[in-house]
Amino acid sequence: MNVKYSSRMDVVRGSDIREMLKMTQNLDVIYFAGGLPAAELFPTKALGELAKEVIEKEGFRALQYSPTEGYIGLREALVDRLNKVWKAHTTVDQIMITTGSQQGLDLTAKVFLDQGDYVVCERPTYVGAVMAFTLFQPRWIEVPCDDDGMDMAALDAALKNNPRVKFIYIVPNFQNPSGRTWSLERRRQTLAIAAKYDIPIIEDNPYGELYFDEDQPTAIQELDTEGRVISLGTLSKTFCPGLRLGWVNANEEILRKYGLIKQATDLNTSTLDQMIAAWYLQKYDFEADVAEKRIVYRNRRDAMVKAIHEEMPPEIRFVKPRGGLFLWLELPKQINARTVMRRCFERGVAVCPGEGFYPQSPELNTLRLNFSCMPEERIREGIRRLATVMREMLAEAALEQPIEV
Ligand SMILES: Cc1ncc(COP(=O)(O)O)c(C=O)c1O
Repeated sequence: MNVKYSSRMDVVRGSDIREMLKMTQNLDVIYFAGGLPAAELFPTKALGELAKEVIEKEGFRALQYSPTEGYIGLREALVDRLNKVWKAHTTVDQIMITTGSQQGLDLTAKVFLDQGDYVVCERPTYVGAVMAFTLFQPRWIEVPCDDDGMDMAALDAALKNNPRVKFIYIVPNFQNPSGRTWSLERRRQTLAIAAKYDIPIIEDNPYGELYFDEDQPTAIQELDTEGRVISLGTLSKTFCPGLRLGWVNANEEILRKYGLIKQATDLNTSTLDQMIAAWYLQKYDFEADVAEKRIVYRNRRDAMVKAIHEEMPPEIRFVKPRGGLFLWLELPKQINARTVMRRCFERGVAVCPGEGFYPQSPELNTLRLNFSCMPEERIREGIRRLATVMREMLAEAALEQPIEV
């Protein structure tokens, strides 16, 4: 059959992480590849009881279609929480529930991008955003970053005389993949630059509440007085990703556009899942759950950092993340992270090469490690095996060097 696909199918690439997620079915594998939260912290029993209660008490309403904007009970619960925890000054009219924040990214692409438009993002940036935006065939400007965030002069230059830049996409808190957190100063400056060129900022914030060593960072949306920031949120990392619940928080005019596009995308996010989450937020101590995650993940981060210091050859560079789920390794230039992935795989360890996090010209010597989903002794063992692979590859690379006589 001569099937004629859309031109989009020429640009779509699968994700290594989704491929390796299949490995999680094998419990022997030490899994550092995806962004999985710790499954043992899911409130499984409470959610089982709540699911039963919701269906009994809400009856057909729990199983019926529901408004595209989302179940009002969940929107209200999230608004309360965002205003309390993030000082968001938001209202239910500025919140739309999405099927995970991955859908927030998909809708963002559909709302803003025509082929050939520019997306301005951090270098590296979140692979799921690269996949969602790439389908709409934009051009990319990857802005270099240091430990405090984007290089502001490079950001300004990216926006200057370029009316086809549609938005700045950033993950300012404990970024996936780099673990980096932006300074307050850079957040303010970015807002000022976005105002100068009059474009929106997409602030993708799944990790901001998972801080370990300091207070919660300030949301750029909190600093915004013009409704310029579109914030994407999710319950995936602080609650349960399987419920697929996220939200877009934006000014009402922009949010209406997102609503129109969501109608065409999936009509509404699962009514039952939204009700279960809303009831959970009302009946249980969600803040205590998040606080527990901070402690467990901090201990796992510490275990990984210590094991890297003890086991890894000194040529491997990394910055200790101050929160989130990820640690980013820079390997010597001659080491290809894909080969590292393959060799680790043979030793029962799943790791994620960094190349997918660059929309255009990847750094092939980068590797992302997740520390949230394995207990500490498995983390130590996994790093030991990874370090063995690294030493092997460094020794091989040294042998390949021309010998001066
Ligand atoms: C930066 C970022 N944005 C969005 C997502 C998507 O999350 P979800 O669709 O589970 O809410 C992730 C998941 O890892 C992420 O790291």
